[in-house]
Amino acid sequence: MNDTEVVIAGAGIIGLSVAFELLEQGIPVRVLAPTDETGTATLTAAGMLAPVSEADVEHADLIPLALDSLARYPDFIRRVEAASGMTCGYRSEGTLWVALQRDHRAELEHLLAFMADRGMTAERLDARSLRKLEPALSPRVVAGCRIPGDHQVDPRALREALFTAIRLRGGQVDTATARGFHAAGEKLTGLWMQRPGQDEREWLPCERAVLATGAWLGKDFEGALPACGMRPVWGQVIRVRGAPVLEHVIRTPDVYLVPRADGRLIIGASSEERGFDASAHAGATYELLRHAIAAVPEIAELEFEAVSVGFRPATRDHLPVIGATATVGLHLCGGHFRNGVLLAPGTAAALARSLTAGRDTPELAPFSPRRFETVT
Ligand code: GLY
Repeated sequence: MNDTEVVIAGAGIIGLSVAFELLEQGIPVRVLAPTDETGTATLTAAGMLAPVSEADVEHADLIPLALDSLARYPDFIRRVEAASGMTCGYRSEGTLWVALQRDHRAELEHLLAFMADRGMTAERLDARSLRKLEPALSPRVVAGCRIPGDHQVDPRALREALFTAIRLRGGQVDTATARGFHAAGEKLTGLWMQRPGQDEREWLPCERAVLATGAWLGKDFEGALPACGMRPVWGQVIRVRGAPVLEHVIRTPDVYLVPRADGRLIIGASSEERGFDASAHAGATYELLRHAIAAVPEIAELEFEAVSVGFRPATRDHLPVIGATATVGLHLCGGHFRNGVLLAPGTAAALARSLTAGRDTPELAPFSPRRFETVT
């Protein structure tokens, strides 16, 4: 069974990481990569690897997967870089969480308590120590903390490296969009796919498939899937560039700032419910720049490069769907919402283990797509 091809629909960071991990285990893969990349979350993601500073009390189930995935990152990047001969912009300087006003202090206390409860490391810092680490921070900074375990990667660079690694390892990449599946009895027999410029769908026989189509999971797709209610959550980031002003990732409650080695700085991110509207908005751009410049005034002097919009894939309970469906051979892998880049190596490793074992492994229980099958 393990030498039959696995078809992976979707070529964001999740689909490609799954494909790479399966190839690493000697399982042949075929990736279906859509031509239209508008709104692809990976292309907009800032790439914060931040299970601590992005930690969300309401989603405690995510924390073990997030910490496992973060721990896997150095080895994952090493393998992808070795297989592709490319670099992925992985940086481990850590994150500074910065309070700029009294309200922010209360959030800082909440975050520190949340982390302490879970044995996560954060070092409380006063304004002077923060500005010593990052002299470009505003003099208005009042307090904060350093989170040494929160790192970053360049999602676009990682995605290109994954494409190259997959091709060099013998994986097939087809430009096509998955449009449906068919089963005989309970068993998957294949996918319908559509190639660019063709109206007709094409039949792709397969016994195993992974749907990793981000916010589009189930959209314009024929065949019953678990009712996870996948929807796009609009996110806008801004890219500016110039002489580097920051070393660390900086977060305030209002904005995050992610410096790249090439002098680019990512400012994120808005979050709104706008369906599949991929347009950028003036008000969101203004708010992001206002908060960014309040934290780091020098940002006002940098060159404005671009505004980018991506669709965070969100399920009804805001937890990912990873694993088998009621159709034998058909797996879902998506709904990573705000944390797709962080969760990619852990997700890929867990799904690869499940596919190899022929059943979902226990760590995937909270994320089983089947939790949505009983909901009417
Ligand atoms: N993980 C950052 C964001 O979704 O904006």
